[in-house]
Amino acid sequence: MSDPAAAVGALLTAGAELTQLVQELGRSRREHPTDDLTSALVNSRVDGDCLSDSDLGSFFVLLVVAGNETTRNAISHGMKALCDFPAERARWMADFETLARPVEEIVRWATPVMHFRRTATRDTELSGQRIREGEKVVLWYTSANRDEAVFADPYRFDVGRTPSEHVGFGAPGPHFCLGANLARREITVMFRELFRRLPDLRITGEPTAAVRVHQRHQAHAVRVHARRPISLNYLKTPSSASFSRSSSVRLNNSVWTQSLSWPSSGPARS
Ligand code: HEM
Repeated sequence: MSDPAAAVGALLTAGAELTQLVQELGRSRREHPTDDLTSALVNSRVDGDCLSDSDLGSFFVLLVVAGNETTRNAISHGMKALCDFPAERARWMADFETLARPVEEIVRWATPVMHFRRTATRDTELSGQRIREGEKVVLWYTSANRDEAVFADPYRFDVGRTPSEHVGFGAPGPHFCLGANLARREITVMFRELFRRLPDLRITGEPTAAVRVHQRHQAHAVRVHARRPISLNYLKTPSSASFSRSSSVRLNNSVWTQSLSWPSSGPARS
């Protein structure tokens, strides 16, 4: 959709429809619980409190956005990093199962959620800067994840980086990303399959960068690659590719390959 106003309108309409849908489902699950997540959400009580219809709607939209924009953009930024640093890609492909850090490095490198705003609940001082109760403070995760005081050579993409106390999933505390482990799993599975099925996947041009901002609150922005040309070899028989725990991705040399290039034509996604 090329018209930004129309895109925002469509987004808001979709959000309202999703909210309505989950609220109807919630009402139904209150009366007829099953063993699904919605039943658990609407029938649970914490300190005697339970989620209202409106709470359920907001939570669901939060989950949809938080679990979608972030992970897929981590994957696309990760792919770009692996193409920009081929030695790191080869290192990971050669030792996929035992190398534990690459996913953390992808989240640090990508920092899909760039910033959040918080309100100070009391007077304090941070690195010599006085902050008063009630003042708004913006946390730049992008900056924190390139902090020279914390990371050695922060502008180097290093799949074996240890330690790596990044804040890509937020700072430790009650609001630490609820879906961090799910995201780690999704990113791992995606790269395992990409390396196995499309080991030659290459980016052939610069991505169109875009920043997606939460329109209503202006509260956080997600780093988005709107569109990117790539080339790849499609393995006709993906099952003939296999991983070896000890060394590398082994591919059957007789595999038939076909060159495809991902088009520069076609509608831009935003
Ligand atoms: C690479 C992927 C992801 C990144 C980079 C990411 C990043 C973040 C960040 C920075 C926060 C704010 C933490 C804070 O305020 O300190 C957050 C919160 C949250 N995330 Fe994620 N997230 C990712 C994936 C997911 C997934 C897959 C889900 C769920 C399906 C999810 C659900 C949430 C929720 C519900 C919160 C709010 C937690 C709260 O305020 O208590 N996230 N995430």
